Amino acid sequence: MSTPPKIGIIICSTRQPRVCPQIAQFVLDTIKSKQSTQPQPDTTTTTILFPTPSLNLIDLSTWALPFFNESTIPRQITSPSQYDHEHTRAWSAEITSYSAFIFVVPQYNWGYPAVVKNAIDYLYHEWSGKPAFVVSYGGHGGGKCNRQLREVLEGVNMVVDAGGAGGVELRFPGREVLGKAARGEDIGLNKEEVVFWKEEAVAIGVAYEGLLRVLVEGQAKV
Ligand SMILES: Cc1cc2nc3c(=O)[nH]c(=O)nc-3n(C[C@H](O)[C@H](O)[C@H](O)COP(=O)(O)O)c2cc1C
Repeated sequence: MSTPPKIGIIICSTRQPRVCPQIAQFVLDTIKSKQSTQPQPDTTTTTILFPTPSLNLIDLSTWALPFFNESTIPRQITSPSQYDHEHTRAWSAEITSYSAFIFVVPQYNWGYPAVVKNAIDYLYHEWSGKPAFVVSYGGHGGGKCNRQLREVLEGVNMVVDAGGAGGVELRFPGREVLGKAARGEDIGLNKEEVVFWKEEAVAIGVAYEGLLRVLVEGQAKV
């Protein structure tokens, strides 16, 4: 692999205001700080030359896809030209350009937001075979949403939780932070020293290593 693979960090909340972009940025910064202190991936376990991936945010709010309105089941599509709509072809091209994904997702009413299911359902082959992990958040970490979304990702044949790391759950540390998150206010993740989610930051690093391992081993489309 010569060109750096692109990894997409998907912002799975679209309401205004919202906290999701702050948390997606926290995930990105956590991985970047790890990249700057450690060679990626672990060169003791592989001799493959692997360029440092680029990390990009994909905001479902910017994409503003309408409710799924294609006539053909995406799994039966053999070329993007067969899609009915320009918005689907654009979304297809966007997802095709990535080698792996990290879904950053709030728990809504014990599940994931409908907007992320809609975005997934538009495509099949563009997701298939690529590694992914889920970072959920909520008053209790969003575990229900995390499990449900991982199951859906398996349904589009993604390689979920490579290395057995499982999903990462970010639990708001108290009512004050939960209230700020709900109001889309700054919850303090951009500080030099973030005072909570230290263990979770380690878990993000472990999940990311698993994802990279899948890319290195060539199990994923690149
Ligand atoms: C429609 C809705 C449903 C929610 N349901 C849950 C829930 O089931 N569990 C939970 O911990 N938090 C729940 N919350 C609180 C969210 O964790 C919190 O509002 C968070 O800021 C949502 O992420 P966002 O700001 O990126 O949309 C819910 C929030 C909304 C808007």
